[in-house]
Amino acid sequence: MEDWLIDLRQGLYLLPEAVSDYASRVDALYLGLVIVSGVLTVALVVLVVGLGWRYRASSPIDRTDPRTERIDRIIEVTWASTLLAVFLGLFVWASMLYFEPYRGSTDAMTVNVIGKQWMWKAQHPDGTREINTLHVPVGETVRLRMTSQDVIHSFYLPSLRLKRDVLPERYTDAWFTADQTGEHWLFCAEYCGTDHSRMRGKIVVMEPSAYDDWLTRTGGGPSPVAQGRELFQSYGCSGCHVGDARVRAPSLAGIYGRTVPLAKGGTITADEGYLRDSIVQPQKHVVAGYEPVMPSYAGQISEDEILQIVAYIQSLEPGDWEAGGPVGNNVNETPR
Ligand code: CUA
Repeated sequence: MEDWLIDLRQGLYLLPEAVSDYASRVDALYLGLVIVSGVLTVALVVLVVGLGWRYRASSPIDRTDPRTERIDRIIEVTWASTLLAVFLGLFVWASMLYFEPYRGSTDAMTVNVIGKQWMWKAQHPDGTREINTLHVPVGETVRLRMTSQDVIHSFYLPSLRLKRDVLPERYTDAWFTADQTGEHWLFCAEYCGTDHSRMRGKIVVMEPSAYDDWLTRTGGGPSPVAQGRELFQSYGCSGCHVGDARVRAPSLAGIYGRTVPLAKGGTITADEGYLRDSIVQPQKHVVAGYEPVMPSYAGQISEDEILQIVAYIQSLEPGDWEAGGPVGNNVNETPR
C-alpha cells in the first residue's frame, strides 16, 4: 500500500500507482504538461543565455538597423499564437478530464459516504456498512454519494486520481471505475481538525465474486431503501405525504428526477439535494399549490437517516402508494 511513497531502498516513486483508465489519462495530461513546460523552459534558458552572450556590452556586434521587416513580424505573431494555442489546448484537455468523474449515471452502483471528525463511514446498496475502508468490485462503475456530518472534508483516492470535497448539508457525487484489484490509500485531503492526518483508510478493489462474498460475510442489516421506508413511517412523513393522508402534502411517489413547480414561481428538479433540503429546510422550496406547513427536521434527524429516506423516496415509482397501500410494496432495493 505504501509502494508509492518515497522509499530509497526501492527507488523513487513520483506518482501513485494508477488503477483506472481515468488515472492513466490524468497521468498522460501531467506528462504532457511536464513535456511542454520542459521544452519551453529549456528553449527560454538557451535563448536568454545565448542572446545575453551575443549582445554583451563588450561584444563588437553591429547594433544599427534593428530588423523590422514584415517577415519578422509574421514570425513573432506565429510564435506567440502557437504558444497560446498549445496552452489553451492543455487547458481544454485538463478541464474535460477534471469534470469527468463528477458527471455520471445515477443508475450506477451507489455507495453512501459520510465524512465526520475523524472517520469515513460508507454504506453499500445492500445495507452493509464499513468504516475507513471502501470495498468495491473491479470493473464496475461506482458512484459515491457523499455528505459530511460536521465540517468540510475531502475524499481522496490517489490511485484513482479522484478527489472531491465532502460538504455539510449538501450532497456531492463522484464516479470511478477501478480496473485492477488491490488495496490503496484513502485520505482526507481537507484540513478538518486535530486528527485530520489520521482520517485515512484504504480502498479495497476486489473481483466481483470476492466482493459478493465480502458483502455476505460482513453484510448486515436492511438496505438503505428498507431502512428509509421504516424511517419514513417513524418520523411521520407518511402521515402527510401518502395518497389519502389527512393533511394535504405533495405525493412523493415517482417524484425523483421530476420537475417540480414552486410556489414562489419557477421550477426545480427533484434531485437528491432537493429531497434533502425539503426535509431539513422545508420552507426553502415550497411546492406550488401547497401551504408551507411542514416542520423542519433539522437537528432531529442524522445525515445517515436522511440518506436512507432519500434512497427510499428515490426507489418509489409513480402510482406506488395508490396501488400498494400506505408505504408501497415496491421495495425496489437499489440495484447495485
Ligand atoms: Cu476530514 Cu481532513
